[in-house]
Formats: sequence, C-alpha cells, structure tokens
Amino acid sequence: SGPATVSPTGQETGADQAAVAQAGPYLTTAQGARLPDTDHSLKAGSRGPVLLQDHHLREKITHFDHERIPERVVHARGAAAHGVFQGYGTAAQITKAAFLGKGVETPVFVRFSTVLGSRGSADTVRDTRGFATKFYTTEGTFDLVGNNIPVFFIQDAIKFPDIIHAGKPQPDREIPQAQSAHDTFWDFVTLHTEATHHTLWNMSDRGIPRSFRMMEGFGVHTFRLVNSAGATTLVKFHWKPKLGVHSMVWEEAQITSGMDPDFHRRDLADAIEAGAYPQWELAVQTFPDTPEQTFEGIDLLDPTNIVPEELAPVQPIGLLTLNANPSNFFAETEQVAFHPGHLVPGIDITDDPLLSGRLFSYLDTQISRLGGPNFAQIPVNRTHAPVNDMLRDGMHQTAVHRGVAPYRPNSLDAGCPFQAGADLGAYVEVPVEVPAAKKVREAPDSFADHFSQPRRFWLSMSPVEREHIIAAYSFELGKCYEQAIKERGLKVLANIDPELCAGVAAALGLRAPGPTEPLASVEPSPALSQLGQTWPLD
Ligand code: HEM
Repeated sequence: SGPATVSPTGQETGADQAAVAQAGPYLTTAQGARLPDTDHSLKAGSRGPVLLQDHHLREKITHFDHERIPERVVHARGAAAHGVFQGYGTAAQITKAAFLGKGVETPVFVRFSTVLGSRGSADTVRDTRGFATKFYTTEGTFDLVGNNIPVFFIQDAIKFPDIIHAGKPQPDREIPQAQSAHDTFWDFVTLHTEATHHTLWNMSDRGIPRSFRMMEGFGVHTFRLVNSAGATTLVKFHWKPKLGVHSMVWEEAQITSGMDPDFHRRDLADAIEAGAYPQWELAVQTFPDTPEQTFEGIDLLDPTNIVPEELAPVQPIGLLTLNANPSNFFAETEQVAFHPGHLVPGIDITDDPLLSGRLFSYLDTQISRLGGPNFAQIPVNRTHAPVNDMLRDGMHQTAVHRGVAPYRPNSLDAGCPFQAGADLGAYVEVPVEVPAAKKVREAPDSFADHFSQPRRFWLSMSPVEREHIIAAYSFELGKCYEQAIKERGLKVLANIDPELCAGVAAALGLRAPGPTEPLASVEPSPALSQLGQTWPLD
C-alpha cells in the first residue's frame, strides 16, 4: 500500500520500488487479483477454442509484446554499477559544489558503453567507450557524461548525425555491426580531418581497453567552475583508475569477442560481486578563465584538443568507488538517462559548440527512447534532492500532484509553494559576457589546426604502442573496398608522421605520400603513453 507512485518527491529507493512491483507471495495480475494458473489459456473445453475473454492471457501477451524499448541511438551497449563518490575538499577554492566538499559522500550510478555497436554487439571491439556518471547530490543531480578518450571526432554538434551515420553499419548491408572497419567511417574521418586526433586514439591501444575498471575517463569539454565568492576557473575533468590504464592486444580482443562477447560486463559485475570494488579518482586540470578561453595557445573550446598534463597538472578532487551491481539490467542500466545539462551550483558550461548541441540532444532523444517526458520519475533517474516543479501530466506520469495552480505567483494554493530566487541555493548561470557579433555559420580560425595534437600523441607513444597503431590502421583501412579512401587515409597519416604513414602504406601495399603541410613542431607528452602513466596509485 501507499505505493511510491503517489510521491512526486523522488525519495523512494529502488528497493522500495521493487517491493511495489513484487509484494507478497501470490502470483497476481497487474491489478493485484490472485491467479489460479498462468500456464493454460481459458478454453471452451480442454480441446476447444481459446476464449477472448481470458484477461490474464491477453494481459500477459500484450505486456510481453511491448517489452522492448528502442535502444540508444548511440552507446546502445553498456554495463553499469552503483557506487559512492567521496569529495576530498580540494576543489573548495574553485567550486562551491557541495558534493566535492571534504568527506561528503554522494551515491552514484555509472554506465560504461561502446559507441557504435548495437545492444547485442560484442564488448571488446575497437571503439570509443562511454563513461557516464550520475551523482545524486543533495543539490540536484549532476551528470558527467564523458568518454575514455579525451577528444571528440567533430567540433560542432551539427555534424554529430553525420559522423554517426558514417560510423554505424552501412545502410545497404548493415555491415559491420560494431567496428570502424568500413568505407563510410573511413570516408568521413579522412574527409573531415578534425576527426584525425580522435581516430588516432581509437587506433591506439585505448580503443581496446582490458576492462572498464582500467580505463581513464574524460569530461572532454572545458567546464566553468564557480566558487562561493563568484570567482570562475575553467577545468577539464579526468577520471584516473586506481588499477592503472591497461588494454588488450588486438589478437586478445578478437579472440575474446568470439569466446566471450560479454567480457567487459562480466568483468565489471564479477569484480564487484567478489568485493574487488573498482575505484577512480576524479581530477581536474585548471585554467584561468580569460576572455580568450585559451591556455598556452590551445583553444579550450575546441573539443579535439587536450591540454598536456605536463602543462596543466591533473589534481585529484574526489574518489569514486563502484560497490554494487544493478539488481535489474532493464530498470537501471537500460532506463538510466544521462544529460550533460544536469548541473549543480558551482559547475557551469562553456560555449564549446559540441557541448551546446549535446545540451539539446539528450533530453530530446530520451523523450522518444523512454516514452514521453516523465522519465525523470523512473527510480534510477530520480534525483535525491526534493523535487517541486511545475511540470504536469504527460505520458507515464506517476506523480499525483497536489494543488490547482501550477504557476507562480499564484493566490490559490496556500502560500504559493513555488519559491524561487538566486539567494535560495539556486543554480544560477555564471553571467559571462557574450560578445556582440554577427550571426555566422563558421568555425573560428583557432579550430583549423587538425594535425599538431595528433602528432604530439604519436610522438608520445612507446615503440610497441606505435607498432600497435600501425597494425590497427593497416587492418581497418585494409578492410575498405574503395582504393581512394585508403589513399586518402595515407595522406592524413602523412600529416601526422612519416613513420606512421610509411608503416601503414607498406602493409597496404601502397606508396606513402608526403605531407601536404609542414609537420608541427611539438613536444611529446609522456602521460599520453599507457607506459608513461605516472598517476599515483597510493
Ligand atoms: C549517449 C558521451 C557527443 C548525442 C552518450 C553516452 C555517453 C556519451 C557516455 C551514453 C550515456 C549512457 O550511458 O546512457 C558523449 C561525449 C561526447 C558526445 C563524451 C562529446 C564530447 C555527443 C553529441 C551528441 C550526442 C555531439 C549530439 C549532438 C548522444 C545521444 C545519446 C548519447 C543522442 C543517447 C542518449 C540516450 O539515449 O540516453 N553520449 N557524447 N553525443 N549521446 Fe553523446
């Protein structure tokens, strides 16, 4: 009785919700009527026709018929876990976010994913991995929706449908299911050279992680933190795995795909069940919030850029521990809905044009994936802060709202329960200046350098990592049917490094072209190499 569905506050736990769906020892209909039998349809005589009046038969089959929901349009395959985040208090100077305070513990739900494969695809394919964290803070939910690669393929969200159309299986044959080895993918990334940096990370060992537990995570975009005095700092978020960063070699990844396509989800669940709780430190690189929003000449609004750790140290601000497996994959892992716009006081966005598009996309897609606008009421999506909104009705509304006047001010509901104001602990956007400017559809000049950061990555690799990268490009480009795409791929590689280009050209049996622009003069960043990981593991 008193089911959680009458509460608009979101305070109930998943366990209470499960009790609502599964209370008492008796098998019932969805309306709670006890059933005598669920194995035989109601018939006119034991060998006679089945009767339409069998409500249990119709309810059971109708519900089954609608069990599937659309898979995510990207990141469809994933695995998740519950955990706790503990703030170190070391970010207090730069953000007022309460959950980062010293010793503050916040429940979290983390979903790891591949990007391109369908829900049933294999875990150990070469791909980017999602690393999405939902912090159920007392000030509202904060979602850090990141990846295991610190840069992205494109610089403007308007191209996201295009890169995904190119990366998903080709529309004629639906091949391949989950890997990048096909013509449209390579056609896109060789024609859009801004994708070079991300693609190079994909072709490195980072593209085939050993375990979700051994991946770094990155917020990718630059965020703006604000402290209690109103001072702002630009940051990039990092997750540093306590187990270190480890990958498979390609042959291992391929064999594992065949022998245990569920390898990563099994590894995560087994580790947690055995009490070997995976841990990550949340850390930030900080940059002064100048009007240019650049650091050491690097445009912080360009999501194809990293800032080398040697230039801006990665400073730990808290500890994430995953300590419980979901009890129901569908209810939790499948229905969880992350959104980069779920922010809490102390954390704000920047004008990265990729981030701006994401702020629209996630809510929009979730309305169709989760069947209407009320999915924030699904247990895994419920905030742990009290909710008092003026949103009403809609598909799958489970709250029973009180009062007659969902607007403010109003003089009908006692005292008007909707107080709002900047001084009431509210989320207030940082009042950054927006430059007076003409409307344009163009990228800034500072987004035009597509090769110096990939070159830095390549130069930072150890010899064995370089060998792996050459082998990966050779395998993947070698799968393309179109000769012109292979040749264009080599031209891109020539602008990164002649050794890389020559190695792949030799494997493809093609001539290695020269660079079309002078090679950038950049220093290696040892922290980019998996062998160069120097993160303190206590
Ligand atoms: C899903 C990361 C760019 C649209 C996801 C997920 C992650 C992620 C981790 C999986 C969430 C989950 O586990 O449920 C990123 C990162 C990006 C990026 C790090 C760039 C830095 C974009 C862009 C768009 C986009 C530019 C669109 C303009 C989506 C959509 C989903 C998704 C539609 C599916 C969401 C759902 O159905 O719940 N993304 N993404 N992403 N992303 Fe992104």
